[in-house]
Order: sequence, then structure tokens, then C-alpha cells
Amino acid sequence: MTKPLLIGNWKMNGSLQLNQELLHRLIPKLQQLQKHIDIAVCPPSPYLFQVCDALACTGIVTGAQTVSEHASGAHTGEVSASMLSELKCRYALVGHSERRLKYAESSTAVAAKFEAVQNAGMMPVLCVGETFEEREAGQTRQVIEQQLQAVIDRVGLAGFEQGVVAYEPVWAIGTGEVAQALQIESVHQAIRTFLSSCAPSRKEDPSQRLRIVYGGSVNSSNAAEIFNLAEVNGGLIGGASLKADEFIQISESLA
Ligand code: G3H
Repeated sequence: MTKPLLIGNWKMNGSLQLNQELLHRLIPKLQQLQKHIDIAVCPPSPYLFQVCDALACTGIVTGAQTVSEHASGAHTGEVSASMLSELKCRYALVGHSERRLKYAESSTAVAAKFEAVQNAGMMPVLCVGETFEEREAGQTRQVIEQQLQAVIDRVGLAGFEQGVVAYEPVWAIGTGEVAQALQIESVHQAIRTFLSSCAPSRKEDPSQRLRIVYGGSVNSSNAAEIFNLAEVNGGLIGGASLKADEFIQISESLA
């Protein structure tokens, strides 16, 4: 297994000045942790240039919050994977539940984005997770398997060799309600088991090498418990990634 991965997703927050202040506080501390963990920051797209520039040569990398599945052309407002790659982005989130639910991104479109990111030489972070209603209806595994299957249908199982999966229960995002340790472990395990079951042979099974990170109301108080779980290989942090002290403490819990 490669190093655990911590991603700060700033969502639609920040400004040139706020970003500069935040990065100024984060960089020296996070640089000291890089021996133990990979760290990425995903700003809103207008700030990618600023953040890529500030992080150049620090070892901390930049990611995009979303990406177009198209290579170029008449797609007003969209940003292509090759544009992100040109800026030296290393990761791109695909299928974040806010994109799936608020912008009606289908699993098929998400799979196409996953492929576009890999074709541009970057690492897709496939976000999967169930809504509260789906969990209550006992559909958690089914929902997540369908989200994974769409990617397998598009790029094959081997696609997960160069990708990351982020398990984010929708009901835990930005709500302060964290999934219980047992719930997290069991879904992370179910993801590995499902991918493993799709592999024709052990050699072609990416599941044990795959980094599966958890996201959903992670903060400095609960990070250590979550990151201690055997099946958790890092975190996707929203709100708490906007506060320097919080994000540094979360990073220290993972290192
Ligand atoms: O991308 C991050 C996740 O949606 C988690 O967000 O930490 O604010 O709950 P949150």
C-alpha cells in the first residue's frame, strides 16, 4: 500500500487573499508530514493557478473539485482534464455527491470523467456514498456497487490501479454527523470485496492496493479514531480543511 492520502476540498469557498493566508500557514507544517502521507488541496477552479503556483516544489499537490468528461469544444463553463494537467494538478474529484445530487451527474458521466482524468495522466478520486434514505432502506451496498460498476464498465477493473475511492456517506457531509467506526469499516471492506469479486484472477485484483479514503464531517476531534481503522487509507476533508489549525491537526492524526 502506498502512503495514506489526505485531501482538503475547499468547495466553493475562499478568495485570493484568504487562500494565500491559509496556504502560508499550512505549507511549512504539512511539508514536515510528507514523509508519511500524501497531501492534496482542491480549491475552486479559478484559484487552481494560484494554488498550483504556491504549492510548486513543496511536495503538496493540487486537485480539482470536478472536471469535464469532454476533451474540448462547446461546453460552456467546463474545464477539461488536459487543462488541469497543464496546471500540474495531480488529482481530480469525480462524482462528489454534491455534483451527483445538485448537478444531476449520472454514474455514467462520472465514469467518463474518471476516464478523462486518467487519460490526462492524473489520478481520479471517485466519490461514492449513499443518502440517508438509501441507508435506511438497506441499499447502501447496492448503491455503492452501482457507482463502482459504472466505472468498471467504462475503464475496466484495472482503472482502479491508478485511482482512489472516497467513501462519503451523503448524510455525514457537512452535517457534523460522522459515520460510526463500524459503518465506515464495513463499507470500505464491502468496496474491496466487490472489486475483488469482479477480478478474474488475484493478479488482476486492485482491491488490496487501492486507497479508500473516508469523508464526512471529519475534524481534529474524530480524525484519529477514523484514521486508525484498518480499512481507512486517508481522508477527504471539507469544512475543516478551511481552517489551518484543524487541517494541520487532522494531517498529524494521519501521519
Ligand atoms: O469533500 C468533502 C466532503 O464532502 C466532506 O465534507 O468535511 O465538510 O463534511 P465535510
